Amino acid sequence: MRSRLFWGVDYYPEHWPEARWPHDADAMVAAHFNVVRLAEFAWSLLEPTDGHFDFGWLDRAIDVLAERGLQIVVGTPSASIPPWLFAAHPDMVIVDADGIRRTYGSRRDGSPASPVYRDYAARIARKMAAHYADHPAVIGWQIDNEFGDRDYSSHAQAGFHEWLKARYPSLDALNQAWGTRFWSHVYTDWAQIPVPRQTTHARHNPGLHLDYDRYLSDCYVAFQQAQIDAIREVVPQTHFITHNLMGFTYADIDYFDLAAPLDVVSWDNYPSAFWRENPFAVPADVALNHAAMWGLKQSNFWVMEQQSGPSGWHIVGPMPRPGQVALWAWQAIAHGANGIVFFRWRTNPRGAEQNWHGILHADGTRTRRYQEIQKMGEALTPLMDQIAATEPFHDIALIHDYDIRFSFQIHPDNPLFSYEQHVADYFHAIHDDGRTAAVLSVEADWDDYPLVLAPALRIVDEALVRRLTAYVEAGGILVLTMRSGSRDRTNALVETPFPGLLADLCGVTVRESDSLAKNDRKRVRFGENEAYATMWCDVIDPTTADVIATYAEDFYTDEAAVSLQRRRKGAVVYVGTAGDAMLVQQILAKAIELAQIPLMSDIQIPDGVEMTRRRGDNGVLIFVLNHNATEAVITLNHPHHEQMTNAVIDEVLLLPPYGVAVLQKVIETATHNLRTT
Ligand code: GLA
Repeated sequence: MRSRLFWGVDYYPEHWPEARWPHDADAMVAAHFNVVRLAEFAWSLLEPTDGHFDFGWLDRAIDVLAERGLQIVVGTPSASIPPWLFAAHPDMVIVDADGIRRTYGSRRDGSPASPVYRDYAARIARKMAAHYADHPAVIGWQIDNEFGDRDYSSHAQAGFHEWLKARYPSLDALNQAWGTRFWSHVYTDWAQIPVPRQTTHARHNPGLHLDYDRYLSDCYVAFQQAQIDAIREVVPQTHFITHNLMGFTYADIDYFDLAAPLDVVSWDNYPSAFWRENPFAVPADVALNHAAMWGLKQSNFWVMEQQSGPSGWHIVGPMPRPGQVALWAWQAIAHGANGIVFFRWRTNPRGAEQNWHGILHADGTRTRRYQEIQKMGEALTPLMDQIAATEPFHDIALIHDYDIRFSFQIHPDNPLFSYEQHVADYFHAIHDDGRTAAVLSVEADWDDYPLVLAPALRIVDEALVRRLTAYVEAGGILVLTMRSGSRDRTNALVETPFPGLLADLCGVTVRESDSLAKNDRKRVRFGENEAYATMWCDVIDPTTADVIATYAEDFYTDEAAVSLQRRRKGAVVYVGTAGDAMLVQQILAKAIELAQIPLMSDIQIPDGVEMTRRRGDNGVLIFVLNHNATEAVITLNHPHHEQMTNAVIDEVLLLPPYGVAVLQKVIETATHNLRTT
């Protein structure tokens, strides 16, 4: 796809009278929008009865937008089943973990394993694709909407059995891998294998459970693929296909797999909502979401739904502060978004999301937020091509693996431990150090990054260990933490001392581990500094490694907590705990020192200010984002050229609350002409 920057809105023309559409389209153009996503919840209007399609209204809506130069991303409508289809096939809905079939009446209720649902969904997608393949305004497709929700239906069970048969050479092999002798679960027929619904006691076999999580993830990938195939049959190659994912936060689908067949990743960014403990997400968490979405394909992405007002279904979320909506959009761009699509155009007075605020009030008038978005559009438009031609770049790779994430969901080991939070803790430390990281899969190309952090790399196999060893021996710095190497791909504990296959590379074995109770923590000594071990304390026996931190309390006082093994040109740090923020910072600082990673820039940013870089043929763009509600003073240490104002700033950049600057460093050439890079 040609590098362009897309700026637009999610629009539901079907919610409004046709006479209103031209007015809406004019106001979109006035906001400098160039793209509109639509139709992703319109199945009952596009196919009012089985096999009878009506695209007339959508044709007219698209024409109104296209006449004004707006381009179109068409959503396939499978996330919301029309009533006639459910009435004909009531068993196509999801069954929850309690075995209860979901009641019709919301959305995302279809079982991804139901062949009937998949075929109907692919049929409407094919019809739409054929209808709009040659429409000059249509540029891309969004499959479904935010895949998710766990399914334990009979369709899923049947699919699980087929999935298992394709993976295990025999039932004996499966019994062996899962260890089904435990509690007498030796299966003699594939059909006996349950899905991990609620049981009377304890939990399911962890081998079965991990395979089920993998299967369910694959099931969504296959459901998506049926629509990709249907669309690709008829649309030109120039059309892109995407799906709107849910960021790092969403845990139940392997997003690396879901993203693989897509032309571009997109995701839905809602930094403020009441469903979180803190209604305003901390900027580092939003940054992590963006970085994780960039990392899925190591490629620029879209935000297909960018929050534009208070969230809310039955309740109303807090109002984004003046400047914050634009700041969130800039933050996305700063992390590699080449498309920003605001959700949604207008607050709908009816329906389940009547409290979810759009850019226009429910009465159709323009909000303060509309003016803010319009102003950003004005500033962004002249920079669009320049920004779109750049990509974020990083010195640090942070590994995030869904197999491991699933495995920790099944058995967190310590009840307080969350793998995603542990990964996020390292990301936060990187962010707070004024840096960014590529969030990559364990299978990605991380070999050229000078520093790879792989927290809690619980599941490894020999091939991965060989690759990690080669990486370190060639000069890489690798950080591994607690539970690394403790399980194999069947989710069984390894039968060698932890960290199992990683023991030789790390030069340590774990003698024993103390899983800490809530509110318990242990002091750890790092030379002169102290920090706390939290949740978990591996008592480490160095075999060939050096000890770089020791516990300072309890019966393992003076025993090793963190080790460092130098190996040929590189080194491995093993951290035997989760650790508080101070501990994670110390580990990061040590690793950065070992990897000799320079500062990202000589610009000094205060707390609450974020800095990222995007690089292209015409040099590096530096994005400086003030997440504070107060003015920020940024010391540049060197003249920089601000791209929006076209001003050269010599020393101090003042950013208003929620303000943003896009900078290029001014470098002096031999002839003393100023140029930027
Ligand atoms: C999600 C969905 C949208 C809408 C918004 C706001 O991200 O994709 O359809 O429901 O949330 O609730």
